[in-house]
Amino acid sequence: MAATSKTATLSLDDKSVEFPVYSGSVGPDVIDIRKLYGATGAFTYDPGFTSTAACESTITYIDGDEGVLLHRGYPIGQLAEKSHYLEVCYLLLYGELPSAAELEDFEFRVTNHTMLHEQMMNFFRGFRRDAHPMAIMTGVVGAMSAFYHDSTDISDPWQREVASIRLIAKMPTIAAWAYKYSIGQPFVYPRNDLDYASNFLRMCFAVPTEDYEVNPILSRAMDRIFTLHADHEQNASTSTVRLASSSGANPFACIAAGIACLWGPAHGGANQACLEMLKEIGTPDRIPEYIARAKDKDDPFRLMGFGHRVYKNHDPRATVMKQSADEVLELLGVENNPILQVAKELEAAALADPYFAEKKLFPNVDFYSGIILEAMGFPTSMFTPIFALSRTVGWISQWKEMLVDPAQKIGRPRQLYTGATIRDYVDVESR
Ligand code: CMC
Repeated sequence: MAATSKTATLSLDDKSVEFPVYSGSVGPDVIDIRKLYGATGAFTYDPGFTSTAACESTITYIDGDEGVLLHRGYPIGQLAEKSHYLEVCYLLLYGELPSAAELEDFEFRVTNHTMLHEQMMNFFRGFRRDAHPMAIMTGVVGAMSAFYHDSTDISDPWQREVASIRLIAKMPTIAAWAYKYSIGQPFVYPRNDLDYASNFLRMCFAVPTEDYEVNPILSRAMDRIFTLHADHEQNASTSTVRLASSSGANPFACIAAGIACLWGPAHGGANQACLEMLKEIGTPDRIPEYIARAKDKDDPFRLMGFGHRVYKNHDPRATVMKQSADEVLELLGVENNPILQVAKELEAAALADPYFAEKKLFPNVDFYSGIILEAMGFPTSMFTPIFALSRTVGWISQWKEMLVDPAQKIGRPRQLYTGATIRDYVDVESR
């Protein structure tokens, strides 16, 4: 970050304090308020961090008003069109697109870490069959610190590298096994002759009695879903990973914390919530009722898959995802699926409604990803685990960046306390 000649002046009581202003390479300037408390005795108040930059980062840039998403400077549309997930992983992790030899080496390293320690199978079997796969993923990823002791020392760059590769490589196996366990089918081991997306599809849909022929269009669509979810700068789960890591926690514990945060319906759980909503709507004639509910201030209902904290124009990921959804639906010949029909008509109805236009609410990436995953045959409970496996590289890239940032400190927000002031304890008999 570069210091500018600008300063920001804050007047409070009889004090006037100047703060330095920094510029990034693109995007809004930031006011450095680190000295605020010392100089004024006051904190800032910013629930949801809507105006707070918690770190400096070179990984991902978003301009929500213009609908721009860049990874290391490359627009997401170009990456989704021309690149593929493992190449984007390399870009996010190391800062540059790989040469052919670097990519081959990276793919080899990831491919050769896809198996799980055999003992971990018992860990899966300890869960109830009806456990949500996100619950299993949170537990199993956290438990990796008990299986891979040789990659938990965060002060050793080599161990950090091995942990990163292990997480990216094993996450599809963990997600697929969580699914297989929930439907009572045997676990399918990874196969190293398949690409990342095809291997995941096979581990989800093959059975020992019948192998699974991976359709290249479905594999490409799966890869795009991974690519479009790979990173999204300082969102809730990424900030959770950074906060967990700021205490020095091991990488597996930090990523498990990110998975737990992602599960919520306002974040990664939105794709599942969206499909459940479409099923609840059921038929196109009920769409007006749900649109009216979404607009009713006294009804907490929201249209899932619509709106975004940052994108107030369009979600650039949604544009690519919509294209993929059309391709997949055509391939699978499921254009007449009633849920997908509801989705198409709901999208059109919301986009034509002034309420959504005024509030800048557009379909987000999860609206279309849910439709594709449903068409591919994934149950809704697998939508968020697929988001989690895709986002793992983003979490790790941000985690690695943070560990070498000299400005890094343990995360410790302050508060505006409005509770009781000091009072004396009263014995239970006298209350
Ligand atoms: N349906 C109906 N009204 C909505 C919706 C919606 N989906 N989203 C926002 N609004 C209204 C909201 O009621 C509020 O109205 P008012 O100003 O009259 O009070 C206004 O729009 C602004 O809402 P907000 O909650 O202040 O906006 P936010 O930026 O804090 O919330 C959001 C962003 C994503 C949490 C929200 O749009 C939402 O809940 N969407 C549905 C869940 C969803 O699809 N989430 C996935 C996000 S994309 C995946 C990811 O990157 O994690």
